[in-house]
Parts: sequence; C-alpha cells; structure tokens
Amino acid sequence: MSLSERLASAPVVPLIGENDADRAVKTARALGAGGLTVIEVVMRSSDAQKGMEAILAQTEGLIVGAGTVLTLDQAKSVRASGAEFIVSPGLVDEIAEYCLAENIPFFPGTMTAGEVQRAYALGLRDVKFFPASLAGGVPMIKALSSVFREMRFMPTGGVSAANLSEFLELPSVLACGGSWLTPKEAVAIGDYSQITTLASEALAIAQATR
Ligand code: 3PG
Repeated sequence: MSLSERLASAPVVPLIGENDADRAVKTARALGAGGLTVIEVVMRSSDAQKGMEAILAQTEGLIVGAGTVLTLDQAKSVRASGAEFIVSPGLVDEIAEYCLAENIPFFPGTMTAGEVQRAYALGLRDVKFFPASLAGGVPMIKALSSVFREMRFMPTGGVSAANLSEFLELPSVLACGGSWLTPKEAVAIGDYSQITTLASEALAIAQATR
C-alpha cells in the first residue's frame, strides 16, 4: 500500500523523537500494533538517524520517514538511510526541488498563504501545516483551502486525541501528525502497551470521523 493509501485509511502520523535505537524500534512496533503504520522519526539529535535506520531494518509493514529535516544535505543523508518521506518545519526550495526530482514525498511546514502559494508554485500539493494550533488551527486551514483548492494539509503541532476529529473533518486534511502518541514517560518506563493503546484510540477517532 502506498503512502497515500495508508494515510487515506489511517490519517495519523505519529512522531518518534527517541535517541535510543532499541527504544525507537519498540516504539515503532507499538504504534504499528495499534494500526498506525506511517511513522515520522524526527531528526533532533545526533542519534535520531540511527534510530530511523534501526526501525527500517528491524520492523516490517511500516512506512518510515524523517522529520525536522532542515538542510538539503540532511535530506540527502536521510534518503540514503532509507527514509520513505521527508518532513520539514518550514519550506526550503532546494529540499523541495530535490524531493520532487527524486520522487520522494515531501511535506514542508507552512502556515501562511504566501508559504502555501510558494509550495504550490514549486509543484508541491501536500504540505505540513505547522504549528497547527498556533497557526490558526481549523479556521485557518479552512481559509487556506478555500483558495488553494488542490492543496492538502498535514496539521502538526498541538494536535491531540482531543482535537483530532476537528482537523480530520476537513476534506483538505490529508493526515494529522503529532507526538502525543509517543509520550516520553511511557517510553522511559518501557510501557509500550500505552503507545499501542494511544495509537488504537487515534485510529478509532479517525475512522469514526471519516
Ligand atoms: C513537530 O515536529 O511537528 C512538532 O514538534 C510536533 O508537535 P506536537 O509535539 O505538539 O505534536
């Protein structure tokens, strides 16, 4: 199943921000057991990429991407490690051009009409909407969608089980991303069943909404 097909049936992308590769793998497996199989590993520490590589090597059935990719070199590096999609907090043209040329799904962070229009002009049709709650949330996505009819948004930043359905009710929302599915406290005590429960709950909310 392609990334788009997966997101159509389970439109939630959990973030893994774990430094330890073993924990990252266990977290990814727990998310998959809860039915969330598109996972973003955020590149916020020197060991994050190793965690992503370990997930790719030691799990099956997941689509694993790299998030918090800030530079073109980093994009090339995570791609070489096997990242199946790339997410950035903002929009850098050279990363967008690289991903389009390499045919890698790329979700740059946008929060204004100008940024969405620049993404559109570059040839992108899917963007992250970040930080979703601070950038205007549901009303802002509605306003942007009324003019950017072909764009699809992945709100991330402040999304949780409490507001997930509000975002997913919007037809222009491709999926929601977030770290609420992978609480650090649960990982710290090895309570991976909590992560599976959170993933199952999010999936149930998504399926009830769409
Ligand atoms: C991101 O990287 O997209 C955000 O930091 C995630 O925000 P959240 O922690 O509120 O889900």
